[in-house]
Amino acid sequence: MKATAKAPANIAFIKYWGKKDEKLRLPLNNSISMNLDRIFSLTTVEFLPEFTEDKVEMIGEKIEDKEACRIKEHLDRIRGLTGIKFKARVVSKNNFPKGTGIASSASGFAALSLAATKAAGLDLTEKDLSILARLGSGSACRSIPDGFVEWIKGHSNETSFAYSLYPPSYWKIADVVAIVTKTEKKVPSSEGHSRAESSPFLKVRIMSMEKKVRAVKKALEGRDFTRLGVIIEEDALSLHTVMMTSRPPILYWLPKTMEIILAVQQWRQEGLESYFTIDAGPTVHLLCLSDNKDKVTQKLKKLGGIEDIIINEPAKGTHLINKHLF
Ligand code: DP6
Repeated sequence: MKATAKAPANIAFIKYWGKKDEKLRLPLNNSISMNLDRIFSLTTVEFLPEFTEDKVEMIGEKIEDKEACRIKEHLDRIRGLTGIKFKARVVSKNNFPKGTGIASSASGFAALSLAATKAAGLDLTEKDLSILARLGSGSACRSIPDGFVEWIKGHSNETSFAYSLYPPSYWKIADVVAIVTKTEKKVPSSEGHSRAESSPFLKVRIMSMEKKVRAVKKALEGRDFTRLGVIIEEDALSLHTVMMTSRPPILYWLPKTMEIILAVQQWRQEGLESYFTIDAGPTVHLLCLSDNKDKVTQKLKKLGGIEDIIINEPAKGTHLINKHLF
């Protein structure tokens, strides 16, 4: 059987950084995110007896050997779950251009997990699908459920998974993504996670995580945007402090990244409320209430020197679609 899945990328309000088990991708802390409706991956998978090897293709992109290996390992996991022996053909497409500094592993592994299990004849629960996606890429487990999501760190393979806190319609928040370069990042996030231990600041960060997770959940519950935004920025800065103080240090920011951070603070003083967050790269995500998304976009455009802007609203999680890629 052939199956195709669509999976959103997600932006973490509280970030995952550092693993207590590398192989199982068990994180050091819970994290919270929102699925993005304008940044997604589509993946079609088919297992057939006549295939002699797994064939992996990305439409419009060259796929690195390392990436192809990671995808084949994931197919092996799925073969292990189902007992299917056949090799697979995988065709995938991101709706955002490669090299924009937007991570594709979350949406990529979420889409692959659903498409491949379905193609292999397996109907996993949302929880089990989230666990499977996590084994491919940690943040991918958060792209499985709908809308606003929490990933429970857990203490074993079965206890570390994500679930939906609220559906996408719960709160009209926008994530205005400012892409500041088309050059790919030099340190992949998997490498960054393993360097986290070398930062003397990691202990301090981890100590504050439970409190921050509780505070974000409270802010979501009360739809308190100011409270939410303040913690989101605090967590992004704490994450980048760990990155910058790792050995060797990881410096993802570019001058434009800093320029946007300072501008956002200025806009707030002028009455336009938005808050920044940054993942493993120089791209800045500006969170605001949807009513303000056009104003934020206009302000960003005025700054100049930004390669691309993508305006997102909350999205549902990973789901099957009927249109196959081959
Ligand atoms: C900074 O999920 O890409 O975006 O598990 O090694 O694939 P692996 O890492 P990945 O890490 C994402 C890190 C982050 C923060 C976050 O999304 O929570």
